Amino acid sequence: MDSLQDPASLLSSQNLDAFWMPFTANRQFKQRPRLLESAEGMYYRDVDGRPILDGTAGLWCCNAGHGRIEIAEAVSRQISHMDFAPTFQMGHPLPFELAERLAEIAPPGLDRVFFTNSGSESVDTALKIALAYHRARGEGTRTRLIGRELGYHGVGFGGISVGGMVNNRKAFSVQLPGVDHLSHTLDLERNAFTRGLPEHGAELAEQLERLVTLHGAENIAAVIVEPMSGSAGVILPPKGYLQRLREITRRHGILLIFDEVITGYGRLGAPFAAQRWGVTPDIITTAKGLTNGAIPMGAVFVNRIIQDAFMHGPQGMIELFHGYTYSGHPVAAAAALATLDIYARDGLLQRALELEDYWQEALHSLKGLPHVIDIRNTGLVGAVHLASRDGAPGSRGYDVFEECFWQGVMVRCTGDIIAMSPPLIAEKEHIDQLVEVLGRVIAKTA
Ligand SMILES: Cc1ncc(COP(=O)(O)O)c(C=O)c1O
Repeated sequence: MDSLQDPASLLSSQNLDAFWMPFTANRQFKQRPRLLESAEGMYYRDVDGRPILDGTAGLWCCNAGHGRIEIAEAVSRQISHMDFAPTFQMGHPLPFELAERLAEIAPPGLDRVFFTNSGSESVDTALKIALAYHRARGEGTRTRLIGRELGYHGVGFGGISVGGMVNNRKAFSVQLPGVDHLSHTLDLERNAFTRGLPEHGAELAEQLERLVTLHGAENIAAVIVEPMSGSAGVILPPKGYLQRLREITRRHGILLIFDEVITGYGRLGAPFAAQRWGVTPDIITTAKGLTNGAIPMGAVFVNRIIQDAFMHGPQGMIELFHGYTYSGHPVAAAAALATLDIYARDGLLQRALELEDYWQEALHSLKGLPHVIDIRNTGLVGAVHLASRDGAPGSRGYDVFEECFWQGVMVRCTGDIIAMSPPLIAEKEHIDQLVEVLGRVIAKTA
């Protein structure tokens, strides 16, 4: 079949059954599919040729917008030059170059980079490095891991164990042992409609002290949190909360891991949330925006002090028995280097700061619409939290999400929360369009 055949006719000839779609209500979707066919700049087009404004940077990953020719060319050049080369006991120049480039934008000290293929793999890698680090230093009793309610750390067994989104855990009986969770920081009673970081809740970080008292610091390896919880619906850290987590972890020799798979690469107006909010963790996990979503790739930033702890013993000894066939894949690395060039040239890692006020005012203009119980924002990310229908949680959010799509705007829903994270190339008129359509749809959704 000609792959450039008219997309609508392609669809009508296609059977949608075989693809088991991820995180999707498959049967519902296949009754009325939402199929994207091409993308450029701020817009997708669906198979009927309708433009759809991208209000979510794909899946929080296309920070430089769509169809960046420099990335396409870099990928194409690399794939014909050298399609693949191993990085186990072998190497090729690109991941070394990329790691150096990444170290330049990382917070101070986090200049050792381990490559993965996804956020989930980055998280599992970070947790394993934390455990192996303590062992390497003779503190092998530090095995407990601490996550947070409503946290999302991907779908590996490590990630769902420290994660705190119930549906992602409950169907799978087996999880890592020795995991605790801090409380989430969503507090509608005290913080609803805050612009930027909420005032109340920094004291929730003190729960970590209680866990230290309960288990003994000598048994705790690491705390992992998203500096801002994205997938659970844009839940922001209260002012001072991350600082307190940092103080407590440092005091007790516990590693602090920031999962920046969403917040990394400019979403908050700085390369990482760590820099935006002035808190430096020991490890940062990333993926998504690293290649602008074009080729799967993740990167884990590790403080060099942690890596140094592995560099003992005979020279010929493998220091970390961990890695993926595609760690540092040449084509992905080429895509990432081209992406970093675009971010630097167009100032995209800072751009969210320039747009933040406009974005904030636009989103908060939706206050007062029916069922809107909270609006949250920071950088170029935001959420409109809707009240749940009696006995049907999630249905109102889904209806709004779906209708927005048919009205030409792509948002995300997580339960009854509508989340948005447009590409960082957005102009004010895109923000206006996004908010206007969302407001109209919310107003008419019962
Ligand atoms: C904070 C966070 N960690 C991990 C992941 C998992 O990433 P992936 O889907 O690439 O495995 C995500 C995905 O949204 C995420 O938001």
